[in-house]
Amino acid sequence: MTIAKRHRPSKRQLGQFITPASIVKRILDRVNLTSESRVLEPSFGDGEFVLPVLRLLLEKHTGGEVDRLAEALTRNLYGVELDGRLYRRCLRRIEAEFGPLPSSHNLVHKDFFRHEFPGEWRWGAAGLDDRLMFDLIIGNPPFGGTFDADIEDKLDREFGERCGCKIKKETYAFFIVKCVERLKRGGRLLFICSDTLLTIPTMRGLRTFLMNQGQVEIERLPEFSEETGYPMVILDFRRTGPSDEVVRDGEPISRTIIEMTANASWGMNGELSVAFSGPTIGNFMVGSSGMTIGKNKLFVRPIVNGVIEEPYDFEFFDEPITLEGELARARLGKLSSRQREQILRQERQGETRRCVRAVPRGFPKTIILPHPDYKPYNKSNAKIAYAPPDHMIYWRNNGEAVLTFKKSGKWYLRGVGGQPFFEREGLTWQLISNRLKMRYLPAGYILDSGAPCGFLRPGVPLEELFFILAWTLSPLCSYILKSVINHTMNIQSKDFERLPYPHWVCPESKQQAITRIRDLVEQARRGRTFSFKSPEVVDLGKLFSLGNAQL
Ligand SMILES: C[S@@+](CC[C@H](N)C(=O)[O-])C[C@H]1O[C@@H](n2cnc3c(N)ncnc32)[C@H](O)[C@@H]1O
Repeated sequence: MTIAKRHRPSKRQLGQFITPASIVKRILDRVNLTSESRVLEPSFGDGEFVLPVLRLLLEKHTGGEVDRLAEALTRNLYGVELDGRLYRRCLRRIEAEFGPLPSSHNLVHKDFFRHEFPGEWRWGAAGLDDRLMFDLIIGNPPFGGTFDADIEDKLDREFGERCGCKIKKETYAFFIVKCVERLKRGGRLLFICSDTLLTIPTMRGLRTFLMNQGQVEIERLPEFSEETGYPMVILDFRRTGPSDEVVRDGEPISRTIIEMTANASWGMNGELSVAFSGPTIGNFMVGSSGMTIGKNKLFVRPIVNGVIEEPYDFEFFDEPITLEGELARARLGKLSSRQREQILRQERQGETRRCVRAVPRGFPKTIILPHPDYKPYNKSNAKIAYAPPDHMIYWRNNGEAVLTFKKSGKWYLRGVGGQPFFEREGLTWQLISNRLKMRYLPAGYILDSGAPCGFLRPGVPLEELFFILAWTLSPLCSYILKSVINHTMNIQSKDFERLPYPHWVCPESKQQAITRIRDLVEQARRGRTFSFKSPEVVDLGKLFSLGNAQL
């Protein structure tokens, strides 16, 4: 993203999804305000929550309209909004409905992370503290927004860790942490939030923080608004101190069961506790992502009828290292002062870097496969059990051209994901998918980031790879993945590792599963295609039923 774009925050960068009035009402029906309540809306937009909250507060005061409005806006209601246009629109809406604003009020046009409402000095958890504390914090904090680049690192230091767990640098996560810590004891936070809060591993720290701080109730919203297709939840939190359960859609889930999952998942349920009472796949296999080339079309070729067409020749050359060149390749055009110094030193000493260019050939060259300069490239596909290679990558001299291209390009592309696992036998699946589409990966492939992979840990026998392949094709495994481990469309290598290993399957069924899946892979190698509806795949899945578990 360019610097200019970050300085002109867009609707998406500000996470601007307006809450429909029906959902605001549903949330406000849960609250009970008094004339003493202190309420904060930390990102109030044009006032979807502020206006109805103000209506409720005005009912709690007596006296003339002007005085009641002044009371509510100076003593009860506090708010922050970053977008000046929405901020002004909110004030205009208040004036249109309730009359002129009082000479002072607590609705501020600022970045919530740069603002603090001061209160009285007191001795708090963080030492001497004058931050104002609230009875109710309400709203719909930005989701997937960007932080002000000037304070991003400072915010990460301030909110990036709680109770020894990492808090993901995501706008809604930092909003929640900051707001929870501004609640009085017994105070309540009611937020609309992305449903990623429920399971995704990167929100584990936030879930743990919330359970340590108080009682959590989550309600999944069947739909939110036409503006966004993101699934949303209502987070209803009370700051009462550590709790031993979370209520999801009215159903309590004990913290002990939640903590059986490595990601402290709120998607867990008691019936799955057998599955989570043993080892995980990660005890047997290690997951890895593949590499992102940055420009596949330079090096990756589709296989058509056993041949590929090569349109390029590759030429290597040396290029001087300059600060200007490195800044253009750096994330957000920023480099630390140490990096700058080092680059300037290299520039002064006339150091160069090896680069590669693809020179178009007059006519593409037809390459008959196999060919020593090309290796199969593991691009994502939706096949299960096994699929023949459909792409090749130019890999002469151990990938010299591809690796040089990456190392001389954008900084974020310089790492080579999955390199230690290139050419190893393993399993692989489609990264973005509604269920685990797992297939056997023979030795010899170079790995692409769209298809993460799993490889046996040292000393684990090969038959475990086939047993795990059979398990991951079962409906129960995908159910556990999508309801407990990570319900988003992304299936990362860590999600794979966190899946339970099917320790409840008896030795005879395990042997059957291994024999049958090996046979399926063999058949697929001979050209058969399997789907989740193929009778062999359906029968295989039954071997993993939790109903068969010896308790
Ligand atoms: C999801 S919208 C919700 C707006 C409104 N509260 C509602 O419920 O309809 C999030 C709001 O957060 C604002 N916002 C984003 N980053 C902010 C920040 N750092 N400080 C304050 N407001 C911010 C956006 O401009 C946007 O109005």
